[in-house]
Amino acid sequence: MPDIATIVREIAEEMAAAPDRGQVATYIPPLAAVSPRRFGMAVIEADGTAHLAGDAEAPFSIQSVSKVFALTLALGKVGDQLWQRVGREPSGSAFNSIVQLETESGIPRNPFINAGAIVVADMLLAGHAPREAIGEILRFVRALAGDDTIFIDEAVARAEQETGYRNAALANYMHAFGNLAHPIERTLGVYFHQCALAMSCRQLALAGRYLMARGRNPDTGFSIVSPQRARRINALMMTCGHYDGSGEFAYRVGLPGKSGVGGGILAVAPGKASIAVWSPGLNERGNSLLGTLALERLVQRTGWSVF
Ligand code: DON
Repeated sequence: MPDIATIVREIAEEMAAAPDRGQVATYIPPLAAVSPRRFGMAVIEADGTAHLAGDAEAPFSIQSVSKVFALTLALGKVGDQLWQRVGREPSGSAFNSIVQLETESGIPRNPFINAGAIVVADMLLAGHAPREAIGEILRFVRALAGDDTIFIDEAVARAEQETGYRNAALANYMHAFGNLAHPIERTLGVYFHQCALAMSCRQLALAGRYLMARGRNPDTGFSIVSPQRARRINALMMTCGHYDGSGEFAYRVGLPGKSGVGGGILAVAPGKASIAVWSPGLNERGNSLLGTLALERLVQRTGWSVF
């Protein structure tokens, strides 16, 4: 097998030449302005060796990838009681779908669809002003990555707010079922700001290391979550991390992964590597087209699939 450095460099070269790059999301104006030519990849191995390629250092809007960090924080805050308000099943529906909430008592299928992430944001608000809850999420990802330059892009957060009619509908609907504890503007304020986190592939792969390392931050040795909780978060990423494209992602890549509509994907090869890819063009399910292809080639060439 060629070494990981060569594999990562070759995949980045192949992605730079790829003719079909998918469609950049347009429903949030700042995302529409990003060039589909961009591609970045960061692979951090268990021993800390980092392999960076393409635009691996360019910050992008991590969007729904933030749902992994918000879930981790909320589990730390409320424990497994969280599962009384959010399910653990794949939805088989689009990320912003409302239909299942009607027959399922306002309990979202899982924490990675928008409805579920809004409930998680509501939990992070408990005992906090929105600004404090947002600060807590930002501090958490900075600590995970060991990098204080990670920031929230206020222009993206504003645009989310201005265009967030569907998210407001989801929040109102769940509030009607009693599954949100705070006024919807506050809960959505937290959700929109977490989606607006800007991180590079390198920062994202660093932040994801605890999921590769049985819950520990390899820099400090401190436990972020228990090994059991890390395993369970990985299981949810595998089954629900790509919405109605989760089965296809498991089939092609076979790693726990979480996508965002900005074109980022965080993928975890347990015990082996934390991986982030970014390419803003999306496939028909709203997941990064080249990001998925790059991960598929990475696991083919490294044998890192969990299956
Ligand atoms: O809620 C939204 O519309 C966005 N802020 C986040 C959605 C997202 O990233 C879905 N992912 N593919």
